[in-house]
Amino acid sequence: MTTACLNGTFLPLEDACIPVMDRGFLFGDGVYEVIPVYGGKLFRLAHHLQRLGNSLEAVRIGNPLSDTEWETMLKELVSRNDGTDQAVYLQVTRGVAAKRDHAFPADTRPTLFAMSNPMATAVDIDSITGTTAITLPDIRWKHCDIKAITLLPNVMLRQTAVDAGAAEAILIKDGHAIEGAASNIFIVKYGLLITPPNGPSLLPGITRDLIIELAAAHTIPFREADISETDLFNADEVWLTSSTREISPVTRIDDTVIGAGKPGLLWRRMITLYQDYKTAIRRGEVC
Ligand SMILES: Cc1ncc(COP(=O)(O)O)c(C=O)c1O
Repeated sequence: MTTACLNGTFLPLEDACIPVMDRGFLFGDGVYEVIPVYGGKLFRLAHHLQRLGNSLEAVRIGNPLSDTEWETMLKELVSRNDGTDQAVYLQVTRGVAAKRDHAFPADTRPTLFAMSNPMATAVDIDSITGTTAITLPDIRWKHCDIKAITLLPNVMLRQTAVDAGAAEAILIKDGHAIEGAASNIFIVKYGLLITPPNGPSLLPGITRDLIIELAAAHTIPFREADISETDLFNADEVWLTSSTREISPVTRIDDTVIGAGKPGLLWRRMITLYQDYKTAIRRGEVC
């Protein structure tokens, strides 16, 4: 049984209900986070709470909890659910209003919902053969740095990828690869690791930031720079990263084989560093 938390009350997920006048339901008026849990420990919680705070501030929803209150609630949620490795989903909406009106209602209380599900995170590096992606025009809005629950463009893009038998859609804007429909993008060329700089066009991924930190700590050549479509297709390696996907090597995009058509050497090095980091989290050595 999955246990959820709705407005501070822990309850079975199937019993968690919100009024239909919730603005999350009517307008997609809210923001969210997905936080992996390894060995019962919340992965980079401070980073996730910082990004949540930024998203809430950007859409002018008051943060309903302090960081300490978030931590207490989320730890309780994790302990009430099965498995030491989980994926926590949380969202905050603007709350329930008396009538449907686009403008913010005067005094609503944000609705806070969180749930956590078991996550299989054991990675057998040798068994990973790589995934395929397709490129699609980036049809999203101009504030993709906000982790908004309003995800209809991402849903449409991802489904187009699934319909094409691909694992992810790589979004192209003004001739550049921006990110995936639900992931950040990295390429490797001549040993140099490249990802687009943060900004309104893409989500500042927590996984992305950790990869940058690991690259710096292990003197892996790295640069934040725009990735043209030509750079994308000519890359030696392409990776897609997210909290649940971790670091996924892409070996085919559209009809083009990437690099040698198998996961590359730098990917192998980085996924090993990433798994080591997860082990350190499980041991409580880092957070
Ligand atoms: C559009 C988008 N970009 C990037 C990411 C990766 O972010 P993170 O590494 O924090 O999971 C996600 C994750 O859901 C996403 O939806």
